[in-house]
Amino acid sequence: MAKPKVIVTRRWHPEVEQVLQERYDAQFNEDDHPMTAAELQDALRSADAVLPTVSDKVSAEVLGIDGIRARILGSNGVGFNHIDLDAAKAAGLTVTNTPEVLTDCTADLALALMLAVARRVGEGERHLRAGEWSGWRPTHMMGTSVSGKTLGLIGMGRIARAVARRAHRGFDMKIIYHDPFPPRAEDLEGLDALQAGSPEEVYAAADFVSLHCPGGKETYHLVGADAFRAMQPGAFLINTARGDVVDEAALVAALEAGEIAGAGLDVFEKEPAVTPALLEMENVVLLPHLGSATHETRKAMGMRVVENIDAFFGGETPRDKLV
Ligand code: DGY
Repeated sequence: MAKPKVIVTRRWHPEVEQVLQERYDAQFNEDDHPMTAAELQDALRSADAVLPTVSDKVSAEVLGIDGIRARILGSNGVGFNHIDLDAAKAAGLTVTNTPEVLTDCTADLALALMLAVARRVGEGERHLRAGEWSGWRPTHMMGTSVSGKTLGLIGMGRIARAVARRAHRGFDMKIIYHDPFPPRAEDLEGLDALQAGSPEEVYAAADFVSLHCPGGKETYHLVGADAFRAMQPGAFLINTARGDVVDEAALVAALEAGEIAGAGLDVFEKEPAVTPALLEMENVVLLPHLGSATHETRKAMGMRVVENIDAFFGGETPRDKLV
């Protein structure tokens, strides 16, 4: 029997590509360019499985074509707001994602951003590399302590809880969170976490506000001008979730007005574009969507996609089926 044809939209971890090559009639994106809508549509018409990433916009328009051959979208990433699930379902496609395997890695990066922005790590490094450092002195580049402070989490899913564990156990931080779908009590064991009735309650209490809600229509600009006004002037915003949860123009205004002290961002509203004013601000740490970017995690994510499509083509329900 012929192997199913699989189109992979970007370069993946080499060991995963190797496995895909062995098990499938696999076509790779040799030069790793971002695929256009037309290229994604060609892929949907010519392959049995299309394997997109979180930067491919698989919208209702992309999916609204005749002659779709693909039966599964095996997405490489946990977030799925880049895929119109209703349109995918209507087109007869199964959609899967890659939960769990990137939880620790993304939580690590949220902590890295907290420390970097509060302790002025990026600014300090730029200062030293520019040859501006004149030596140790008691008032030089004082930052803000992280240990013992209050961490506010918007969303309390797996990644938020992994951040809370690190912050509470490693940095003795107090935890407050809001999630419309709160986790089970046993998932919060040992965190001494306070459940807030609203995001505003979190904003008012937190020294660090870390976002862990999904992207999409329901959370679009959840953190805007009102949210920044509700935060403490010394607070830092950390975003490793999705860029469009934050109104970037309102963030710039809040930083300029001193409504908050700084921000650590791994995701952006219109990424890869970044609001230019942010690039000029010393109290902002900016990373190019690196939450899951370790060799170990990217391999695990790719292998989770392989597991999902293997199950699908083996006639079973994939473990991470979304629709
Ligand atoms: C995801 O998986 O949703 C991240 O944003 C990329 O790892």
